[in-house]
Amino acid sequence: MSEHYRLKTLPAWPRHVLLDDRLAPVRHQQINPQYRLVTLHAPELARAARPGQFLMVTAWDLSSRQLTVLPRPMAVSAADADSGLVDFVYRIIGRGTRLMAAEAETISAAGPLGRGYDLPGAGHVLMLGRGVGMPSLAFAANRLVAAGVDVCLIASSRDAESSLAVTEVVGNALDSTVRVLDSDGTSDPLLLESRLCRRFDAVPPATILVCGSRRLTNLAVRLSQRWNIPVQVSVEQKMACGMGYCHGCVLDARPDCDGDLVCLQGPVFAASATAPEVVQPRPNPPEAHSVDCAHARVV
Ligand SMILES: Cc1cc2nc3c(=O)[nH]c(=O)nc-3n(C[C@H](O)[C@H](O)[C@H](O)COP(=O)(O)OP(=O)(O)OC[C@H]3O[C@@H](n4cnc5c(N)ncnc54)[C@H](O)[C@@H]3O)c2cc1C
Ligand code: FES
Repeated sequence: MSEHYRLKTLPAWPRHVLLDDRLAPVRHQQINPQYRLVTLHAPELARAARPGQFLMVTAWDLSSRQLTVLPRPMAVSAADADSGLVDFVYRIIGRGTRLMAAEAETISAAGPLGRGYDLPGAGHVLMLGRGVGMPSLAFAANRLVAAGVDVCLIASSRDAESSLAVTEVVGNALDSTVRVLDSDGTSDPLLLESRLCRRFDAVPPATILVCGSRRLTNLAVRLSQRWNIPVQVSVEQKMACGMGYCHGCVLDARPDCDGDLVCLQGPVFAASATAPEVVQPRPNPPEAHSVDCAHARVV
């Protein structure tokens, strides 16, 4: 998938990193065939975390009393200052997440890390998420819904089984969530574009947030040109330290990126178009697949 957008650093956030070295998960449960949800009691982290930020997490191997692997970046999917609880949701990919699933009796978590989303205080926010990008958007969506801001969260996934549009993740924002699937064709970006144009052309959203898919980022940037609104995209990158030391997460070698680090200047960046894309939205999306976030229903 070619990219038709460039990324730009947003103004930095102040950083105050906390390390909780011996956290026993309050909850560690499978929420669908691919994803697990972990809840930690970490009051300082819960107070400090903002949507779009992430934790560097790893599990202790209690038999050898060692941290099993380098920590892995995981977006905060919920944080509640009153209860002191912080959630993240992970998909088992390789060694680190396999060990997390097997040995997560005691977790080490550092955070909150990175620069997250700028959330508007009013208007409508359109969010496009897929796969491991969903947890960070779910946190933003729940904060916005709680503040009375209208949200339309498009949750894209391969099929219903792998969708993260579940109560445990999207919570309050469930009423604003529209699920689209590869298995029934509803996630097709051109079809989605037509549906979103029909829904928002009259009154466009204030901003678009994207996480988890380059195809969706391309779509968001096309829509942002059409509606003349900003896009913020959370970028996924391999990370060894997550704190700006190893320089393993340089965003891109492109001249306009100037060696930005995803863990430090990101993971959220502003996205804008490099060149117009020659694609036309599908003209007549079926009525049954309309996007109606005001009276949201799963399609
Ligand atoms: C900001 C951000 C937020 C994310 N949020 C989520 C989320 O909410 N849920 C989710 O499921 N996933 C999330 N991811 C992706 C998640 O971090 C990866 O899926 C996870 O790291 C995979 O780890 P693994 O060990 O299972 O996979 P592997 O592919 O086996 O491990 C690869 C990772 O291991 C690390 N690594 C191992 N050895 C080295 C080494 N020698 N040098 C450098 N790096 C090394 C790197 O971090 C690399 O990315 C996020 C990623 C980012 C950047
Ligand atoms: S992961 Fe080490 S500098 Fe970003």
